[in-house]
Amino acid sequence: MSNPSEAELIHMFKGIPFTTRSSPELLKSLDTFDAREDDVLLVSYPKSGTHWLAGVTTKLYSTQVTLTSPIEFGDITRLEELNKLSSKRIIPTHLDYNMLPPNFKNKKCKMIYICRNPKDTAVSMYHYYRDNPNLPTVDTWTAFFDLFLKGDVVCGSWFDHFLSWEEHAHDKNILFLFYEDMKKDLPEIVKKISLFLGLNVSDNDIQDICKKSSFSEMKSNTEKENSDPSHTVCALTSNRKLIFRKGAVGDWKNHFTPKQNRRFEEIFNEKMKLSKM
Ligand code: A3P
Repeated sequence: MSNPSEAELIHMFKGIPFTTRSSPELLKSLDTFDAREDDVLLVSYPKSGTHWLAGVTTKLYSTQVTLTSPIEFGDITRLEELNKLSSKRIIPTHLDYNMLPPNFKNKKCKMIYICRNPKDTAVSMYHYYRDNPNLPTVDTWTAFFDLFLKGDVVCGSWFDHFLSWEEHAHDKNILFLFYEDMKKDLPEIVKKISLFLGLNVSDNDIQDICKKSSFSEMKSNTEKENSDPSHTVCALTSNRKLIFRKGAVGDWKNHFTPKQNRRFEEIFNEKMKLSKM
């Protein structure tokens, strides 16, 4: 059987490439999505550590919570499915701020944005594209590098995504986190998340959560878990090994040529001129 064509895998919605696993009808109807005040959103550009954040966050609760697959994934029946959930919902999303269902904003739902060095994000996404039959074929790192800089990849431009959320980084209901900080001092970030969510978690429990959320623990546990893609954070693969690849900071150095690095920096500096971070 031949590989599906790009048109079968990708469609554009409001100028952003989405996979066909996010139906246009669902994307259109997100505007009317009924948020609940106690929903918690986990927001990221793909490959920024969403699974890690989800692993930590769900472990902080002693009451029942349901981690859903990303809100933009699936067809129109998705909304009803989410409506039916009776427990507290932890909802991942890769939507940029402007596309987020307005109800989440109006109800001031808590949102945690995780950001990662875009160079490492690009490398992680390259491997994900390469090994995932649900995404268009990319032949080489060089070809992917160009697509990433142009924003011609799922979820669009890293820069636009980041800037749309950064504008709201100081909103009271939004917590901004960095993957690299989680690598440096996970207990401190876990404490920060628990305070933000208003949860009382002991230092012992935090240590325990950190142990269970290490790369190796998560990688080996997830291989034993149910891999139905419509009930997991990663909605594009049932191959869980694709998610837990290396989990390192600075892997970009093994991929970027000096020339690519200069070009990336130039574009980064230009696009991020308005950024305060
Ligand atoms: P790499 O491809 O660089 O290894 P997402 O969850 O948003 O899809 O991001 C996936 C990236 O987060 C992958 O990066 C993955 O290895 C990394 N990751 C997942 N769990 C992790 C953990 N517990 N610790 C560190 N990195 C983790």
